Amino acid sequence: MERFKITPAVKGEKVTFSNPGPEFYEAVGGEEGMRKLMYHFYDLIYESDIHNFFPQDPEAFQEVKEKNTKFFIQRCGGPKLYNEADAGEDLDHYMMRFHDDFSINEKARVEWLGCMREALKKHEMDEDLKLDFWNYVEAFSKLTVNQFPEKRPNPWF
Ligand code: HEM
Repeated sequence: MERFKITPAVKGEKVTFSNPGPEFYEAVGGEEGMRKLMYHFYDLIYESDIHNFFPQDPEAFQEVKEKNTKFFIQRCGGPKLYNEADAGEDLDHYMMRFHDDFSINEKARVEWLGCMREALKKHEMDEDLKLDFWNYVEAFSKLTVNQFPEKRPNPWF
């Protein structure tokens, strides 16, 4: 059975999600484990169909990798290493807003999630707890999608 399911992002539909819990953070291997998981994920992104969204220069990409990983460490209950959001601003809203600068459609989201699925599969940890993280990224990634296909006008009327 496919454990890591993807349901489509629907324009205007309310998205509910929960942040991964402390059990996940411990099982993934804490800060060090998160780094391993996320660096692998970004290595897969670098080779993926959505690599063009990200810097091509290896040094610049390495910076993105390190910075973004800090967010995920913090989001999963680790130390507050990610300092990009303005003081007091809600991290989730900041993150949604941040992605508005990129034209992300469902195809890009699915590719992004495909890299995450692959990285999670390779990470040695309790299989059931992987779903805790997966459910978070699967849902939250819907909020990064900002390009939806236009309905075709009916040519007969
Ligand atoms: C669970 C969903 C996602 C989370 C939590 C997430 C998280 C992040 C974070 C923390 C950053 C760094 C923001 C900063 O520089 O301060 C970022 C940047 C970015 N994300 Fe996402 N992301 C998600 C989904 C996606 C998806 C689906 C795409 C599809 C293309 C995407 C594309 C990007 C791009 C292009 C950047 C900018 C990289 C750069 O600095 O050049 N993200 N994301």
